[in-house]
Amino acid sequence: EKGGFATFMEKEIYDQPQAVADTLLGRSDAEGNLILDELRISEDELKSIRKIIVLACGTSSYAGMVAKYAIERWCRIPVEVELSHEFRYRDPIIDANTLVVSISQSGETMDTLMAVRYAKEQGARTVSICNTNGSTIPRESDAVLYTHAGPEIAVASTKAFLAQITAAYLLGLYMAQLTKKLYSQEIKDILADLAEIPAKVQQILDNASQIKDLARAMAEASSVLFLGRNVGYPVALEGALKLKELAYIHAEGFAAGELKHGPIALIDEGQPVFVVVPSPMDRHSLHAKVVSNIQEVRARGAKTIVVAEAGDETVKEYAEQVFYVPETQPMLMPLLTTVPLQIFACELATAKGYDVDQPRNLAKSVTVE
Ligand code: F6R
Repeated sequence: EKGGFATFMEKEIYDQPQAVADTLLGRSDAEGNLILDELRISEDELKSIRKIIVLACGTSSYAGMVAKYAIERWCRIPVEVELSHEFRYRDPIIDANTLVVSISQSGETMDTLMAVRYAKEQGARTVSICNTNGSTIPRESDAVLYTHAGPEIAVASTKAFLAQITAAYLLGLYMAQLTKKLYSQEIKDILADLAEIPAKVQQILDNASQIKDLARAMAEASSVLFLGRNVGYPVALEGALKLKELAYIHAEGFAAGELKHGPIALIDEGQPVFVVVPSPMDRHSLHAKVVSNIQEVRARGAKTIVVAEAGDETVKEYAEQVFYVPETQPMLMPLLTTVPLQIFACELATAKGYDVDQPRNLAKSVTVE
């Protein structure tokens, strides 16, 4: 059942090309029109949406952060992302023109379920992005967009995360199609790039020996920092969370721009810092800014480990190690840059002799508040 892998975690990391492909399957026609028929909210209702609130916990909330960048860019609708357990206990402003998008692998996370119920009571439309057929959150939502990652057995989430990001992109493209905020050719182009993602993830998996070697060499690290910017920021948070969960190593993810506002004080000789570098094609020209962050931490003694796009030669000079991922459009990069970080955490934890499928103190679905 582990398909020849030693652990479910490893199997699920290697399942990711399929998870993304299956989540895309059948959701657009030959002309590039999106067909999301499980979305049982009328087109008119969707067109009247003025605000989107994404609710989730943990890894799923990082998929939500990626969704925010994509939906705001493509649909020009404001998107807030909030942890479910925080959302419920303030006085959020919601009405019938608010779309609440919950993201949950299990569909049973109590915090998220309660937040969705609350949003419904307040009159919001609710969509669930979920990996588990017939689970409670999709049952109680107005609509569901299933991720087809297949059952995720390992406690820490991997393939569900990539599938959630994929589903969030599809939702964003669908909304952009309805509201005509993107030209149909733009939607087609993005879909074509998405269709190439599974093969690109496979390429990363096929060339994982460098990252695995690094992970084993770093088994004694006591703290690891992760920096990212724009869509790379949630990737940095996810890289840090995986390392905490699987290897019990202190790890923090930061928005790279925040470095000078405090975290740079943590940097001293030998501090490992992963940097998720934006595409050189990013339209906000963040690439140069993040490269200068690499220089800043390196000048203070950090051991810099960089995840960058293939062909990006500029980072080589400042990085102790560079992991290249295949090129794609900047918005889609999280589907690729996440993968080396998952492999790193899994391999490092395995090198330490830990059970990566059942990390201590954690449960697969958190059904208590
Ligand atoms: C991290 C992880 C958790 C879950 C979180 C939400 O590896 O597994 O952070 O992402 O508990 O769970 P779901 O998505 O089932 O609502």
